[in-house]
Amino acid sequence: MAKPIFILNGPNLNLLGLRQPEIYGSQTLDDVAEACSALADDLGVSIRFLQSNHEGQLVDWIQEARGAASGIIINPAAYSHTSVAILDALSAFDGPVIEVHISNIHKREAFRQHSFVSARADGVIAGCGVEGYLLGLRRMVGLVPGGKT
Ligand code: DQA
Repeated sequence: MAKPIFILNGPNLNLLGLRQPEIYGSQTLDDVAEACSALADDLGVSIRFLQSNHEGQLVDWIQEARGAASGIIINPAAYSHTSVAILDALSAFDGPVIEVHISNIHKREAFRQHSFVSARADGVIAGCGVEGYLLGLRRMVGLVPGGKT
C-alpha cells in the first residue's frame, strides 16, 4: 500500500470559518479535510489530515513523515514566518513538500511576506482560498512516486 500524503495545518487553522472570514473564508477545517479526502479518493491516493496549534507537535509529525509519508502538504500558518524548527524538520524529509496559504501572504503585512518554509518547499500556493489545498494535492500526486501526472 502506497504511503499517505500528510496534510499538516498550523496554529489557529482549527478556527477556520470563524476566524477573520473576510480573509480566510467561511469553510471550516473539517470542510477542507472532507474536500481533500474526496479528491484523494478520486486521485487514488490516501491522506492524513492533521492540525496543531503547537510548533513541537508539527515538528514531531514532520519527523514521523520520514519513512511514513510520500509527501507533505503544509500550511504552517503563523509559524511560516517564524519557525526555523519547522524548516529544519522539512529539510530532513526526503519527499516533495508543498506549502499552502489560504490568503495571499505577499499582499498582506510585511511580516507575512517571508516564509522560512518556502526555502524548502517544492511548490508554494498562496491566495487561492481553501482551494489551494486541492491544487496542492493535485500537484503532489504528480510529484510522488507512482502518482499520476
Ligand atoms: C496563513 C497566512 C499566515 O500569515 C497566517 O498566520 C495564518 C494563515 C494562510 O493560510 O493564509 O494563520 O498561513
